[in-house]
Amino acid sequence: MAMKVALLGCGVVGSQVVHLVDEQSEELAARIGTPIEIGGIAVRRIDRARGVDPSLLTTDAMALVTRPDIDVVVEVIGGIEPARSLILAAIGAGKSVVTANKALLAEDGQTLHAAAREAGVDLYYEASVAGAIPLLRPLRDSLAGDRVNRVLGIVNGTTNYILDRMDSQGAGFTESLEEAQALGYAEADPTADVEGFDAAAKAAILARLAFHTQRVTAADVHREGITGVTAADIASAKAMGCVVKLLAICQRSEDDKSVGVRVHPVMLPVEHPLASVKEAYNAVFVEAASAGRLMFYGAGAGGTPTASAVLGDMVAVARNRLAGTSVAEGGHDTGLAVHDMGET
Ligand code: HSE
Repeated sequence: MAMKVALLGCGVVGSQVVHLVDEQSEELAARIGTPIEIGGIAVRRIDRARGVDPSLLTTDAMALVTRPDIDVVVEVIGGIEPARSLILAAIGAGKSVVTANKALLAEDGQTLHAAAREAGVDLYYEASVAGAIPLLRPLRDSLAGDRVNRVLGIVNGTTNYILDRMDSQGAGFTESLEEAQALGYAEADPTADVEGFDAAAKAAILARLAFHTQRVTAADVHREGITGVTAADIASAKAMGCVVKLLAICQRSEDDKSVGVRVHPVMLPVEHPLASVKEAYNAVFVEAASAGRLMFYGAGAGGTPTASAVLGDMVAVARNRLAGTSVAEGGHDTGLAVHDMGET
């Protein structure tokens, strides 16, 4: 029987999810063993949704997520509300959820995970950090037997694009931001990008997975954006053999009792692997006790790359459904506290 999907949002990412499901429908069905079918798409304005079957569109998202024939809800509207209420209603109605919503996961992931555990449904969110890069499941699963000590990441494409253009072309801040917006990388309100809120939310999610603690939220992340970075800063970094990058830094404390998370511009020596990350690309550098140094690199934003991660999660849900299982997260917690990294 087909896995029926309710899609919440049909913007840059959502429209690509629909497109990829259509384009790859036969291949996906053969690969998974069951077809994936879009059963409805909730949008704010029906006249604005283009390139999708109009008969699928509705403005009543709550009715869609609780509809009996829906198996999985894919949320790509972003923001805290109404996304949280819709996701909790979906979980309460026994639907698995795939979301790209970093802000909500960083603020209230604990509530969502607890609800999913209780309902015995899946909650996947690979697209919420670093777009297309397979990162969250490797941190949660592949490195589950290791001990991560530090995570350094370029997790915001817009700011990396701006800093790279300022460094390599001598471009101005505003013109570079406009280019990033035109390419579909920036948030609806780019303040979230340039002031580091977007990266801080992603840093909180990374820290929770890397250190197996549910306690870190976006509010715990010491944050500074790139609006104070000047052409003179970039030039003096260059003179010292460095580039300026906005980094998310998640670190275990020396006494091993807590974790600290911060986001701020860093002067990085050009030899560091993260220094070569250009344009809107993202990369995450993980230091683990046994695995050593790992780097995850790729497209961190944009409709099609992010839709790839969403689709990967949809396939995971479909496979779990066929196997009669669900992946619960957060049932066990290391209990590591969070320390203020403002002074370090
Ligand atoms: N605004 C984000 C970025 C989009 O620039 O990386 C992906 O989360």
